[in-house]
Parts: sequence; structure tokens; C-alpha cells
Amino acid sequence: MIDPLDGDVEFENEGTLEPLPVVRERTVVMRAVGLTKIYAAVSAGAGAGSGSERPALELFRGLDLRVHAGEMVAIVGESGAGKSSLLHLLAALDTPTAGEVWCGESRVGSFTQKQAAEYRNRDVGYVWQFHYLLPEFSALENVAMPLLARGMRRGPALEQARVWLDEVGLGDRAEHRSGELSGGEQQRVSLARALVTEPRLLLADEPTGDLDGKTAEAVFGLIQRLHEAHGLTSVLVTHNLEFAERCDRVLRLRDGKLVNARAAA
Ligand SMILES: Nc1ncnc2c1ncn2[C@@H]1O[C@H](COP(=O)(O)OP(=O)(O)O)[C@@H](O)[C@H]1O
Ligand SMILES: [Mg+2]
Repeated sequence: MIDPLDGDVEFENEGTLEPLPVVRERTVVMRAVGLTKIYAAVSAGAGAGSGSERPALELFRGLDLRVHAGEMVAIVGESGAGKSSLLHLLAALDTPTAGEVWCGESRVGSFTQKQAAEYRNRDVGYVWQFHYLLPEFSALENVAMPLLARGMRRGPALEQARVWLDEVGLGDRAEHRSGELSGGEQQRVSLARALVTEPRLLLADEPTGDLDGKTAEAVFGLIQRLHEAHGLTSVLVTHNLEFAERCDRVLRLRDGKLVNARAAA
């Protein structure tokens, strides 16, 4: 039997000369396929009884993830679920036990150390819960670091860094040592440092986890605004379910798998 609704749609198309809508395949920027991560057991060996031994730990097995261009994806999950470990794999800070990570056409998991460093400098902007700024350097120098690391001359690097400090609302703090800035300001600087290289991917691991409510809101709002304004593709780990709900998708890491948190709710 013909579905009447289907029929309606077909007649509409037949009755006009309008071309059928083009369904564009959305570009997948980041892809993890069958990802497995097992931290190996540490045997006590000669130091038996020292407490240094621990059993193997399987964090995920056969985990899949696709992130499309322009998406802002939140990853939530209990402490210890493996969220940070997953981001490390996506950023080539660690290698999977099995499975693959792809960024565009590049197979991240099989990079040499040099390729991994280039990938992190070129394609990934990373924000940690604790900012890891260099406290003795100015905010401006901290933001310029990834550009200096890739061999850009100091003048142009500082110039580009200044644009990004302005972008995060800290143009007037450029010469302050980062150790003198507040927690929220430090996280803004680390966001500018993550984006100064114009990466295709922003990875943020609990970027507001260390901040009080109002400051967290301001920093999350800034991430959202930058994501929109610069057409970023972003993966954010957060404990804040309200922030997660403001993302395009919410994935929960549970029992070593990513599940759609909204569908499960
Ligand atoms: N390098 C490592 N070696 C062994 N175990 C680790 C290592 N890194 C993390 N773990 C363990 O893996 C689990 C998941 O850690 P993590 O990815 O930091 O979780 P989350 O970010 O979700 O809190 C924890 O039990 C942690 O102790
Ligand atoms: Mg973590």
C-alpha cells in the first residue's frame, strides 16, 4: 500500500520543475573508529610491596565518534570515565591500544612523534582545566608561544597574539605576567593561545571546571561566541550539564562507550 504522506511529497516534486534539494554530506572533521584504550598493568617487580603495582585498566573498547564541521559537541561522564584520556587520543597526546583516530584525511593514531607535534600545533587548539600558562611570561607572550614554536618571527607572532588577546577581551592585560591574572583571565588567555594558530579543531577539557559560577558562565559564553564567530569545530568535556545542553550534541562516556545523552534522557 502507498503511504499517503509519501505520495503527497512525490506529487509536489512532480508538479514543479524545481530541482530536488541537494543533500550535502556534512564534512567529518574528527573521527574515532573502534577506539580501545587499555592502560597496561604495572607489576611490582623488585619493588614488591611498594604499592606501585596496579592491574590493567580498560577505559574503552570499540568506541566510535564522529564530529562534523562546525559542530560543538559536549562530552559528559563521571569522574574517571576516561574523558580526558579520550581527548588526549584525539589530540595525539597519547596513542590508542587499538582503533583509529582521524582528523580529516590524516590518521592521527599512526603519527610519528614529529607528525604528532605538528598536528597539535597546526590542527588542534587545546584548553586544559588548569591553564598551563607560563607564569613568568606575559599574557601576550603566552598567546604567541604556538606561533613561535612553529618558527614564526617574534614581531608578527606578537602582532597576531595581540589580535587574539583583544578577541578574548584582554587587550589591556597584554603585558601582565600570566601568573598575576585571575583564574577567569588565565583561562581566556589559554583560549587565545589555543586559537591563535587558527586550528580546525578546538578540544577543551573541563575549561570552566576550576572557575566560580559567574566566571565559568563568562568563559563558557566566550567559547560559544568564538566557536560561532570563527566557524570552529569543538569538543568540550564538561561537568556542567547546563553548559552541555547549550552544545549541538551531548555525548555521555559510560562503560567505555559514547552514547547520545539527550536520547537517553
Ligand atoms: N597514564 C595513565 N596510566 C594509568 N591509568 C591512567 C592514566 N591516565 C589516566 N588513568 C586512569 O584512567 C581513568 C580515567 O582517567 P581520565 O581519562 O582522567 O578520566 P576523566 O577525565 O573522565 O575523569 C582513571 O581511573 C585514571 O586513574
Ligand atoms: Mg578529566
